[in-house]
Amino acid sequence: MSLKGKKFHIHTFGCQMNENDSEHVAGMLSSRGAHSSPSPELSDIVIINTCAVREKSEEKFFSLLGRLESIKKKKNLVIGAIGCIAQLYKSQLRDKKSSIDFIVGPNNYDKIPDIITHYWEEKITCTQWNRGWKEFSPSDIQRKNPTSGYVTIMRGCNNFCSYCIVPFTRGRERYRPMDYIIQEVHKLADQGYKEIQLLGQNVNSYRDPSTGRDFASLLEEVDRIPNIEWIRFLTSHPKNFTPRLAHTMKKSRKICRQLHLPLQSGSTSVLKRMNRKYSRENYLKLVGILKDLMKGISLSTDIIVGYPGETEDEFQQTLSLLNTVKYTNIFSFRYSPRPLTPASKLPDSVPFETKKKRLIKLQNEQKKIQIEKNKSFIGKTLKVLCLGRSKKDSSIYSGRNEGYQVVNFQSSSDVVGQFVPVKITQCGPYSLFGESVD
Ligand code: 5AD
Ligand code: SF4
Repeated sequence: MSLKGKKFHIHTFGCQMNENDSEHVAGMLSSRGAHSSPSPELSDIVIINTCAVREKSEEKFFSLLGRLESIKKKKNLVIGAIGCIAQLYKSQLRDKKSSIDFIVGPNNYDKIPDIITHYWEEKITCTQWNRGWKEFSPSDIQRKNPTSGYVTIMRGCNNFCSYCIVPFTRGRERYRPMDYIIQEVHKLADQGYKEIQLLGQNVNSYRDPSTGRDFASLLEEVDRIPNIEWIRFLTSHPKNFTPRLAHTMKKSRKICRQLHLPLQSGSTSVLKRMNRKYSRENYLKLVGILKDLMKGISLSTDIIVGYPGETEDEFQQTLSLLNTVKYTNIFSFRYSPRPLTPASKLPDSVPFETKKKRLIKLQNEQKKIQIEKNKSFIGKTLKVLCLGRSKKDSSIYSGRNEGYQVVNFQSSSDVVGQFVPVKITQCGPYSLFGESVD
């Protein structure tokens, strides 16, 4: 099937890495003459970029696939499954899901245009591993946002946290040469991007493949690139977060005073069973250093409740840590066993109802913290990068402050893509609201 003039739609589940991968795939298809389309119904090709990290993300994939299968009964549609579920369930998907035309794992996205052009009728499965860094599409990236750009700096993870499927679906760490990263950031700066987000499963373990220069050095290089005003990065593993890195953040005027620092549990015994390689005390010490160095730093985190064997007392430790750190935002999940992981071999001993109760308790506790925090912004003027218009009301603009909080605001002129001073007038637990002040 020639790609020229064909319409494609990519549905992305999961993390920012997946978002950026989809931008690469969209770029590769567009450079062969295909056009992106807003809906599966209007498309010739639908690609689902899947996430396997939790049971729920898997369920969402199968439910979307069901919807696509009913569209496919009425019209010609090529369906591709890519990403972590594709890597994990390759043969089962090929044998049991006849609606899927091609299956491509996270290391092989560069092959997608050729697979569609030549081989989709063969129901091809492409899930080989590669050792070194492979550059997918250095020039063609079809980015979703023209103001804030993702830049992938590494792929894979070597940590093997006991609950996590990622090392099995994305493989071992491969680092992108620093020169390529710098070139991409320069290009974004030339195109008018104001913010970049450096992405990797564990950015703190980054090493330039030829010189061995570390993540702090990469940040220093990126910091020198003119016109990029805000630099963010994720995800940081607390065990690899060095004081040198904290000082690099402090020295830079561009690196945002914001950090996503996944905790997973506030109990040292659970952290040990999770193979996280830090204790509650180490984590709190790191938070203390960061807060001392950068006043008002905004911290967010990931938390799992109901890990095998988690006692009420261990859960209480997580709750109490929440009140010590006072995160700006948390992402919290019920533990679900994932194939191949060491934790999946343990009895999933915390009853579903208990997990549910703990999750609600945790989220309610965090909601109170966020309401308090957000109220303290009322009356203040914040620097906001306007990323677009609000999805619910197009007369309202939407952006993020340095702390990565959503700020919705009114403005008399079109300010999309600009930094705007916004006076905060109202807030909810999950966002701030205000008016631009000129
Ligand atoms: N169950 C629940 N949550 C999980 N995560 C990863 N694996 C699991 C699992 N098996 C969460 C972690 C991680 C985030 C991306 O997803 O909190 O940081
Ligand atoms: Fe999964 Fe742990 Fe790697 Fe994060 S650091 S991707 S939680 S194994």
